[in-house]
Amino acid sequence: MERTYVMVKPDGVQRNLAGEIISRFEKKGFQLVGLKLMQITPELAGKHYGEHEGKPFYGELIDFITSGPVVAMVWQGQNVVSVIRNMMGKTNPAEAAPGTIRGDYAVFMGNNVVHGSDSPESAEREINLFFSPEELVDYKKATDFWLY
Ligand code: PPS
Repeated sequence: MERTYVMVKPDGVQRNLAGEIISRFEKKGFQLVGLKLMQITPELAGKHYGEHEGKPFYGELIDFITSGPVVAMVWQGQNVVSVIRNMMGKTNPAEAAPGTIRGDYAVFMGNNVVHGSDSPESAEREINLFFSPEELVDYKKATDFWLY
């Protein structure tokens, strides 16, 4: 079963959207296998967003993601990487469709409430960056029978 790394960004935590975001993925049928509230250090932020180093928004991005606690999560399910990206909506909230998380709850490019891995390869890298293997819980859910 595929896994992805998702985080409620500092704006989402401050705006009390963590529960709503978790609820959307739960109701969809995805399984939560890792969850923690944490403060990202500049060092971890640099590793996570390393591919964007040098881009004009890089400094803002690092400042923003380290500006307050985030809710770090690992979600599991069939095609979870791409489905969660669709549920999040486009990166720029102005272009995100209504019904998506960013379309419903964000207005400004930087403050877009949620992050989700953009590919299974990124997911693996990001999960390993934010979680140790012991922090991920492997368990069966009875609902899988009805989902798959
Ligand atoms: S790119 O260049 O297309 O790869 O970048 P993009 O995928 O659009 O964005 C990468 C992440 O940077 C965030 N971003 C910004 N943050 C702050 N300010 C500005 N102007 C800005 N532009 C982009 C964007 O939300 C992406 O964050 P994640 O966490 O990956 O969604």
